[in-house]
Amino acid sequence: MKKTKGIILAGGSGTRMYPMTSLYSKQLIAVYDKPMIYYPLSTLILAGIKEVLIISNEETIPHYKKLFGDGKLLGMKIEYAVQPAPKGIAQAFIIGEKFVGKDNAFLILGDNIFYGYLNFLREAVEKNKTATVFGYYVKDPERYGVVEFDKSGKAISIEEKPKKPKSNFAVPGIYIFDNSCIKRAKGLEPSPRGEVEITDLIKTYLDENKLSVAKIGRGIAWLDSGTPDSLLDASTFIASIEQRQGLKIGCVEEAAYQMGFIDKKGLNNIIDKIPNSYYRNYLEKIVENKE
Ligand code: G1P
Repeated sequence: MKKTKGIILAGGSGTRMYPMTSLYSKQLIAVYDKPMIYYPLSTLILAGIKEVLIISNEETIPHYKKLFGDGKLLGMKIEYAVQPAPKGIAQAFIIGEKFVGKDNAFLILGDNIFYGYLNFLREAVEKNKTATVFGYYVKDPERYGVVEFDKSGKAISIEEKPKKPKSNFAVPGIYIFDNSCIKRAKGLEPSPRGEVEITDLIKTYLDENKLSVAKIGRGIAWLDSGTPDSLLDASTFIASIEQRQGLKIGCVEEAAYQMGFIDKKGLNNIIDKIPNSYYRNYLEKIVENKE
């Protein structure tokens, strides 16, 4: 099986969130008890992905480096790259060309938060031949990429933020592609808003009958955190579940431990470097419980 490398696109100008985003990009803002980027990174970890490229603007990258370094402590390899200007999601594959090399790529947007039994992602990575994206039922599809299915459940169209959506299925910000995504991204014309659109990239696969779209079931929560209100909603949601269960969502160290990227010694190694905090107490409990 070909290796799949992960990319987190965590740049953008974040102007909608001003003044929260005047110091650094939105993906460093806290969602309840941890920076937003912890959530997409833990999603990649749970999908079994060990090599990750974080793309952001020049000012923010030093902050991400401070958080994750080269990823070794997590049993991973984490690299960083600058997106000089937010010119579209598909640009991630052009920026990440060297990093991806000859492998497949799993792109996740830095503000996409998933909660639930995420094993389907790991299976999708293993099963993917050319391109796999997902469909998630929402009330307001016009805010997203929208996928239309025929009666047999086959995807027949995909449109970016259509005024009249052909279905309620939004395409969440997780995309699994074969290596040809790099060449395809390079061949795209920028849209009227001056961006190379991920939806146009997905369309190239759809047109060649090489796209698989999997519906995400009702048991999974996909949260948005792109406006002050949705950010607050996401924080409240995460807080409710974490307080009820005493288990954390988006805890990258726990995910790496669970996935066997690190062993008990490795987790203890991380704990030693964390200041006395709720987060440290939580990780200490994880070590104690999992003998
Ligand atoms: C982007 C994509 C859109 C996708 C969404 C998921 O939109 O263009 O197709 O459905 O992410 O979060 P944006 O949120 O950047 O406007």
